[in-house]
Amino acid sequence: MYGVRALEVLQERGVESHLVMTEWAKKCLAMETDFKMEYLKSLCTEYSDDSNLASGISSGTYRTDGMIVIPCSMKTLSSIANGYDETLVARAAGVTLKESRRLVLVPRETPLTAINLENMLKLARLGVVILPPVPGFYTRPKSIADLVDHTVGKCLDQFNIEHDLYKRWGT
Ligand SMILES: Cc1cc2nc3c(=O)[nH]c(=O)nc-3n(C[C@H](O)[C@H](O)[C@H](O)COP(=O)(O)O)c2cc1C
Repeated sequence: MYGVRALEVLQERGVESHLVMTEWAKKCLAMETDFKMEYLKSLCTEYSDDSNLASGISSGTYRTDGMIVIPCSMKTLSSIANGYDETLVARAAGVTLKESRRLVLVPRETPLTAINLENMLKLARLGVVILPPVPGFYTRPKSIADLVDHTVGKCLDQFNIEHDLYKRWGT
């Protein structure tokens, strides 16, 4: 839900996006939503297979504003924290880090083990934004879509992308 919504909003805003999905992300899409891969591919500017380490985003020479891993499993978070760039998601995240670009991870797990927390701390100390999908109830959400929009809006805030996905406090 989070990843699909992020792609929808980026497309609405005219932001170029490159989508990579792990094998388990594809399975979760089918298990947790009614969305089809064809729809997701229609939302992004470019789609790369997670096994395609020759994709543009595998290289630091390829310009991007940054990367959002939404949602981010504990396995992928561990790969990024340990520089184990076996997949394109992990490689592209590593490239984002080495090129000092904005990297936002939306961890998806609860409760968290000390291993998970240590990996997150290591990344946070490197400047990675750890952005758990924790809803803000001051916005008085009326639906699951409102909760999803809140987290997606917080991700877009990290890139200074204008949106009206949630009402800001004090406005
Ligand atoms: C329906 C379903 C939900 C899952 N939810 C999570 C989750 O919230 N967090 C997580 O770390 N792993 C979750 N898993 C397990 C991951 O799919 C598994 O750890 C996988 O290795 C993640 O790899 P990836 O990051 O390459 O997608 C889930 C698996 C299934 C089948």
